[in-house]
Amino acid sequence: MAFKVVSSLGLLAITLANFLFFSTENAAAQTPSRKVNIPFTKHNFPPKFIFGSASSAYQYEGAAAEDGRGPSVADTFTHGHPEMIADHSNGDVADDFYHRYKEDVKLMKFIGMNGFRFSISWSRVLPHGKLSKGVNQLGIAFYNNLINELLANGITPFVTLFHWDTPQALEDEYGSFRNISIVEDFRDYAELCFREFGDRVKYWTTFNEPWSFSTGGYDSTSFIGTLGPARCSKWMNKCKEGDSSTEPYLVAHHILLSHATAARLYRKKYKPIQKGNIGIVLVTNWMMPLNPRSKADALATKRAQSFYLGWFLDPLTYGDYPTLMREELGERLPRFTAQESEFVKGTLDFLGLNYYTSNYVIDIPTRTTVNTSYTTDVRATLTGKSLSLTIEIVYYFFIKKKTAKIYVSVSD
Ligand SMILES: *[C@@H]1O[C@H](CO)[C@@H](O)[C@H](O)[C@H]1NC(C)=O
Ligand SMILES: *[C@@H]1O[C@H](CO)[C@@H](O)[C@H](O)[C@H]1NC(C)=O
Repeated sequence: MAFKVVSSLGLLAITLANFLFFSTENAAAQTPSRKVNIPFTKHNFPPKFIFGSASSAYQYEGAAAEDGRGPSVADTFTHGHPEMIADHSNGDVADDFYHRYKEDVKLMKFIGMNGFRFSISWSRVLPHGKLSKGVNQLGIAFYNNLINELLANGITPFVTLFHWDTPQALEDEYGSFRNISIVEDFRDYAELCFREFGDRVKYWTTFNEPWSFSTGGYDSTSFIGTLGPARCSKWMNKCKEGDSSTEPYLVAHHILLSHATAARLYRKKYKPIQKGNIGIVLVTNWMMPLNPRSKADALATKRAQSFYLGWFLDPLTYGDYPTLMREELGERLPRFTAQESEFVKGTLDFLGLNYYTSNYVIDIPTRTTVNTSYTTDVRATLTGKSLSLTIEIVYYFFIKKKTAKIYVSVSD
């Protein structure tokens, strides 16, 4: 697969399958797209381009009940519902990265990586989710050792604060991301990480793919199925509790407020000294109308793009949700106060974009009024039919009031 990324952003991250490609400030604003011959090598990229891989704590670390780590919704889900995991496995041991990180870092260096993206397990550093209930120093020590090992091997750490593993204690106490109280606890957790690790970490991601978490954790019919805390509407006959017509939107709303709170805190208190960057990692498929002559498919494509990427990127860029979402959802979509809108807007130093696949989109003309969920709200069928031709993605948005352009071209 050949690809090319051109960006005038401070930093742009694109994940293609398991690989991450970061274009740094100096690599940005390169010449426009040019054909890359296959096979191509590292040397086809700008010298400052960073090659790396990415991981998430629960999928990778193992040592789930060791050295004082508290449980997360991912532990509860995999242990409570092995039948929902393809091979009935869980993250108790996973890749055993907690014990074997030194070997893994050696391998990363050996295959020529100079960046590694990992997430911190919130409940490993704060076993009860809350700062007031105690810091696990063994957890802090693990991430210090990992960061030091990476840097000693010339590998830049890119650190994610939240990759879907909410501390179970916060889920039990107040419903975690369904409750505005999460903002304060996320802020405390983020600040602990900035304070402990920020002298060496220069790229912070607050949330990884909030789309996947908000739909996968709260709407069992969503594209990616069920994740912890595995809530969904009764009529889906899969979950004990939940409401897939409101909870995905409420959770996403609190994620946006949590992101903005952490990003503003970082910029005010830590960035001036630590000189790092803070952003978010979103995910979107590239979508095209199945029938290029159908106005309905064209509008459904816009609607689907709004429900996937605009849901998060619009508030972060313009301070409000996309109009197409508001039209579909009415009062089910939470509102930002004028103050919150200003607060959320412009809180990205960089945007990370995970890209996996493309879909053709077919309009669903009728609005569902009974048994609604995020999935029915989108009113679009996304086909799995692969787009084998050249795919081109162009996004325009604003970061720090400057027009930024991302241009991605992928071809088989
Ligand atoms: C949110 O959590 C707090 C406790 O932190 C609780 O008092 C409050 O009732 C909860 N709000 C909702 C809407 O559930
Ligand atoms: C809503 O879901 C329930 C449970 O699956 C089902 O019995 C009912 O027919 C559904 N209603 C509509 C209008 O689809």
